[in-house]
Formats: sequence, C-alpha cells, structure tokens
Amino acid sequence: DIGENASPSFIMVVGGLGYIGSHTVLELMKADYNVLVIDDLSNSYESVLDRIKMLATEYCAIHNKPVPALHFQQLDYRSPLMRSILANYSSYRVCNKPAATSSARFPYSTLQRTDSGIDMEPEDTPEPMLQRQSRITGVIHFAAYKSVEESIRMPLKYYMNNVCGMVEFLGLLEEFGIKNFVFSSSATVYGEGANCGAPLREELCVHHPETFCDSDGVQLQAIPGVMGLTSPYGRSKFMCESILADIARSDASWSITALRYFNPVGCHESGLLGEDPRQKPSNLIPVIATVLTGTKPVLDIFGTDWNTPDGTAVRDFIHVVDLAQGHIAALAASAAGRVKAPFRTYNLGTGRGHTVREVHESLQSTSGRTIPVREVGRRAGDVGFCVAEVGRAESELAWKAQKTLKDCSVDVWNFTKGRCPVTDEMEY
Ligand code: NAD
Ligand code: WQD
Repeated sequence: DIGENASPSFIMVVGGLGYIGSHTVLELMKADYNVLVIDDLSNSYESVLDRIKMLATEYCAIHNKPVPALHFQQLDYRSPLMRSILANYSSYRVCNKPAATSSARFPYSTLQRTDSGIDMEPEDTPEPMLQRQSRITGVIHFAAYKSVEESIRMPLKYYMNNVCGMVEFLGLLEEFGIKNFVFSSSATVYGEGANCGAPLREELCVHHPETFCDSDGVQLQAIPGVMGLTSPYGRSKFMCESILADIARSDASWSITALRYFNPVGCHESGLLGEDPRQKPSNLIPVIATVLTGTKPVLDIFGTDWNTPDGTAVRDFIHVVDLAQGHIAALAASAAGRVKAPFRTYNLGTGRGHTVREVHESLQSTSGRTIPVREVGRRAGDVGFCVAEVGRAESELAWKAQKTLKDCSVDVWNFTKGRCPVTDEMEY
C-alpha cells in the first residue's frame, strides 16, 4: 500500500491489474482517486502493481500533489472473503432517522427480544440506529475471461466467471449500499448487426426496447435477441448488460454505466504497462507483436473478401489510455448527474475505422521491420465492419478519444522492441 490523500473514499477496481484495468488504475490515481484493486492474477502479474505505483508517484511528484492510496488484494472476486474486505472499507454511524433501505441498515441495534425468545424487529423502529456507510464510492468491474475461442470450448467457465460471478457480486454491493457501478462491456454485443456498414449507435442493442427512441421519438428496432451474437463470450456481455438494466429498472438509486469498448490497442507511452496476458494472444495487434518478437513466423490475415476498401476487415481501434480516461469520465458524469438513466450504455471508440492491412502497414512502418503476412480465409464468427458512433459518449460523458492509430503503433513498438531480436532493419 502506498500514499494517502485527504479523501477517505476509494474506487474499487475489480480485475485492475489486467490490460485495461492497469491503465485505468493509473488514470484514476492521476485524477486523485484512492484505489482498491481486487485481482486473482488469473491473466495478469503482481509486478504490474509496482509499475503503476512508479508511474503514479512520478506523475504526482511532477504535479506537486500527494500520491493517492493504492491498495491491493489478490483474490477471486467470487470469494466469500469479499464480504470481509467490503466490511473493512465500511464505517458505522448513528443515524437519527430510519435508514432509507433495509439493506443499508445495521439490524442488530433495533432487534427486540420477545416472550418466545425470537428476535423481532419492532413495528415502529425506535431511533437512533446505526447505519453502515461504505468508503467505496464506486466500482469499476473489469474481471472476466475474454477469449472468444476458449468461450466456445468452455462456455461454463465463461458464464460462471463473467455472469454468475457478477450477479453474486452485485448482491454483495447492494448489501453494502454501493450502487455506483461501471461495467466493461464490448462492441461484441452488436454481434452480426455490426455488419450494417455504418457506425453503430447504442440503440441498436438495447435491453428494454420500449424505453428507447431516436431523437424524433421514433421507436428503434433493436438487434433481435442474444443469438445474433457469435460466441458465449459475447453472450455473457449481453447477459450482464441485461441483468444490470433490470437491476437499475427495479431500483433507480443505482447508477450503472456499461461501457462498450471497441478494439482496445496500444499501451502506456512509458512502455511499462501494456498487454501482457498469460493466455496466448489472438487479437490482431498482440499477434503482430508475437511476429515482431519472432515467437510467430507470420501474421495470418483472416479474410480479404470483405466489402471494405482493401477487402480486409474494418475495426475501430481505440488507444487504451483514451479508453482508461473514458472510465474516469463515466465516474465524473455519474457524480454530476449527467448520466441520463440509472442504466446507460456508451460506446467507447474513436468513430474511425481502419482495415487490418492498414494496421499491419502502420506497425511495419513504425518498427522499420518487415512483418510477413499470409492471406487465409475468414475466421469463424468475425464481422467485416465494426465502428462506433461516438456522439452519446461525447455529449453525456464529455469524453472523446484523442489518439490515432499511429500513436498506438508507436507505443506498441516501444513496449515490444526490447523483446525483439536485433536486426539491421531495427530503428530506435
Ligand atoms: P485482462 O484479462 O487483461 O484483464 C482482466 C483481469 O481480471 C485480469 O487481471 C484477471 O487476472 C482478472 N480476473 C479475471 N477473473 C477474475 C476473478 N474471478 N476475480 C478476480 N480477478 C479476475 O482483460 P482486459 O483486456 O483488460 O479486459 C478487461 C475487461 O474488458 C473484460 O471484462 C473484458 O471482457 C472487457 N473487454 C475487453 C476487450 C479487449 O479487447 N481487451 C474488449 C471489450 C471488452
Ligand atoms: C480484428 C481483426 C480479425 C488476428 C475481439 C473480440 C471482441 C473484443 C475485441 C472483447 C479481425 C483480424 C486478427 C489475426 C487477423 N474483445 N485478425 N489476424 O475480432 O474485432 O474483436 O476482440 O470484448 O469481443 O471478438 O478483434 O483483434 O481479434 O481482430 O487477420 O491473427 O483482425 O479477423 O478482422 P475482434 P481482433
């Protein structure tokens, strides 16, 4: 644990040492939030914590301000120990009025012993009573398994962690009165609907269609049903969003934002944080990195017959630092009451598409190295086009991605080059 600032409150980041989580924890600390990280290290390493601390300390020294606290618990977020962790971040205060919700009430103070010996709550609850208050003012939930291919082979593993884990966790948060929740969703929820060829609006994938209309009040046609999605992983994200929508609908004191990430790429400019999974990479840029390091001989380009300018698929690649800042924007918008509903979805993308070939060329020119390619058929479940419509995030979250594909390539090369064999082609 390091640091201390004046505020006693914390943001809990679950899955905070992974690729997107680690960059977000750093941005939170830069924005003066104390952070409690929960991570079981199933797809990350504890050494990431030291790197975050180092970068946050450096940043705060330059800006002459105290370093916020960074606490870490290595734990599966489904563990029963989560209850005692949340209790450790709670305090109790005497309340003069009856508490607003039964879940936030500390029951023992108001129980009375009856003749039958059973503890009963009196009809008119006397005052004063104790109320539990959490020092955790918001939760960012990254913890999930994310391999599309593995989810098809092992769907239960995915539903147990991504869906059942989240449901249990939400129950626990409710018990502690923590109702400010940011969820890592994905453009995968648009499924095959992404192939419409136009930037994807949030309304295309909704959970309670009757509440969603366009600006002229016209009812929009949502993508029908969860089966349009191409994998159990994708369905797990859709299911989580649906569950979160239901919870917010039943109790408007929740503030839940589901951030639909498009294709997160890049890494911190220092080269100290990046995408360093335990699992074998399958996403485009991490695969290109393995070709650069020599672990893989060639990049397979999946599909050259899509209806796109060069025949390869188009994606909206968003720099992970921009993405991380989107989470800070979501917390701030929620605190300022700018989030329009207790459950709200936001696309986090750039609004700009690049083809697979453009990404390959960008990394080739940035690294100064030849990256061999082989053209192969389409990968099962792929879509040809997936680009965000970003207006909602811009207007409601006051957030906009700043970095370009070139910035992503520069940072990825900076993170990768130390592991590459030296050749004549290499340019530092
Ligand atoms: P990641 O695997 O790098 O990070 C997830 C972290 O959660 C890891 O550190 C892992 O150890 C931890 N974790 C997993 N299960 C856990 C559990 N039960 N208890 C505690 N910790 C657990 O993944 P990422 O790329 O940083 O993705 C973060 C989130 O964003 C995930 O929910 C993912 O589905 C979502 N997402 C990712 C992408 C992407 O392309 N990277 C795109 C869209 C959405
Ligand atoms: C991008 C393009 C590939 C590897 C996936 C998940 C999605 C989200 C982000 C979590 C595609 C092509 C790739 C390779 C290639 N994750 N490609 N050769 O498929 O858009 O999205 O990650 O939520 O749910 O589905 O990303 O980086 O895997 O692929 O040609 O070796 O690159 O076919 O067209 P994708 P990706």
